[in-house]
Amino acid sequence: MSNMRDHLSPTVDPFLMDRSLTLEVIRVTEAAALAASTQVGRGDEDSADKAAVDAMRRMLNELGINGTVVIGEGERDEAPMLYIGEQVGSGDGPEVDIALDPLEGTSITACGGQNAMAVLAMADKGSFLYAPDVYMKKLAVRDGVDLKPEDLDAPIINILQKTAKSKGGKIEDLMVCILDRPRHEELIKEVRETGARIMLIQDGDVSAVISAADPASAIDVYVGIGGAPEGVLAAAALQCIGGDMVGRLVFRNDGEKARAEKVGIKNFNKIYTLNELAKPNNVIFAATGVTDGTMLKGVHRYPNGATTYSVVMRSKSGTVRRIEAQHDFTRKPA
Ligand code: FBP
Repeated sequence: MSNMRDHLSPTVDPFLMDRSLTLEVIRVTEAAALAASTQVGRGDEDSADKAAVDAMRRMLNELGINGTVVIGEGERDEAPMLYIGEQVGSGDGPEVDIALDPLEGTSITACGGQNAMAVLAMADKGSFLYAPDVYMKKLAVRDGVDLKPEDLDAPIINILQKTAKSKGGKIEDLMVCILDRPRHEELIKEVRETGARIMLIQDGDVSAVISAADPASAIDVYVGIGGAPEGVLAAAALQCIGGDMVGRLVFRNDGEKARAEKVGIKNFNKIYTLNELAKPNNVIFAATGVTDGTMLKGVHRYPNGATTYSVVMRSKSGTVRRIEAQHDFTRKPA
């Protein structure tokens, strides 16, 4: 009997191969989102995360890839599954690196807030920055705004002026998205002084960065300190849809620096460009909403079924597919 995954074998034209994978990957984020959706509003972050991790790993291992998790749930000694370095996939496909967050927004899910998603990006080996689990200062803008590394630390008005000019409007019309954290008090003040409007979000800066890059969204600029792994995931999406981003790791102590050294980071002050966060050539990015958000609707559950809303994109073609799927739980497990 022929191998069902022959079409994904490494001997096949890699272009055709990653086209097929693009649609397969959606099943992985859908499974994680469906599982996490059972835990929305239950006040239990660990259960929500575990449900998403289990489901994502199960589906990932059915994919015809020889994958290595490079951005995952943590280091091997602290995360039992989808840890950094874990081999995933059926093992009989192309060698790829995987960046994932089965539940981006665990606390959002636990309290039934907005913007939680299941996220996964895949690319040729060595394409993603092996970012440790520390913070990253990020700046993201829409396509057409020329972003340089030094913009990250420049007065925010500079980038707002460039963005307003590129959009053909005024700074007052811009929407700047910032995580609502005490560490951003000064930044928020600085942005308000420019006259720009601010959208403060509780969590979930992957979708915020992606929205900043998307000219159709209400957000024009994303700025502030969030997770470094989330920065790499967002960069993977920007390589598919356009927009620009820069970021620098932020360390709170020597332990975090040691963690960075372990993954090969030598210059702690380096400002990474988009291409250094995620190489452009061969990226697939997929996300499925868990709760309703700016980028995706969440899982809508009904008796014996649910609807999921996903996006999948590919850097090579620039194609962005939005997929609404109805799942019938009477025919397969949720
Ligand atoms: P989780 O997936 O770990 O719940 O992260 C949610 C998130 O809001 C990210 O989107 C963001 O980058 C990070 O947490 C910010 O970290 P902190 O909550 O420590 O400020």
